[in-house]
Amino acid sequence: MSNIEQTLSIIKPDAVERNLSEKIKEIFLKNKLKILESKKIKLSVEEASEFYKVHQTKPFYNNLCKYLSSGPIIAMILEGEDAILKNRKLMGATDPKKADENTIRKMYGLSIDKNSVHGSDSPDNAKKEIDFFFNN
Ligand code: CMP
Repeated sequence: MSNIEQTLSIIKPDAVERNLSEKIKEIFLKNKLKILESKKIKLSVEEASEFYKVHQTKPFYNNLCKYLSSGPIIAMILEGEDAILKNRKLMGATDPKKADENTIRKMYGLSIDKNSVHGSDSPDNAKKEIDFFFNN
């Protein structure tokens, strides 16, 4: 049975700054993820804190919010068969050092913070994260 889903992807400041956006978008397209929407924006630290509020109790929360708001990012809605899991497989593990070969984070990530991309981890979060960037 087909399971067409939408997920939110973010190209983070480290990757935008290094002009990797087109290369990353090509990886999605090659893997049959359509890019339904794409916008380049810079979040305030308050907006980044709202976006990452599921992590608010974590020790890395403040740094994470500062980092996401440190420069332009590209937010995208990806759509395709099992898009949520597919995107997570294409990204690889959170820590680039632990990511599999040929994943985005292995190829481009600099550190666990500057790990180049974000992707929703569940259907519920995908909906919330898409709404955050595209339905206001
Ligand atoms: P992301 O998938 O965007 O979701 C939360 C982010 O927190 C994660 O990627 C990492 O960039 C960042 N982060 C920083 N430190 C940690 C950590 N110890 N564990 C998990 N995520 C971390």
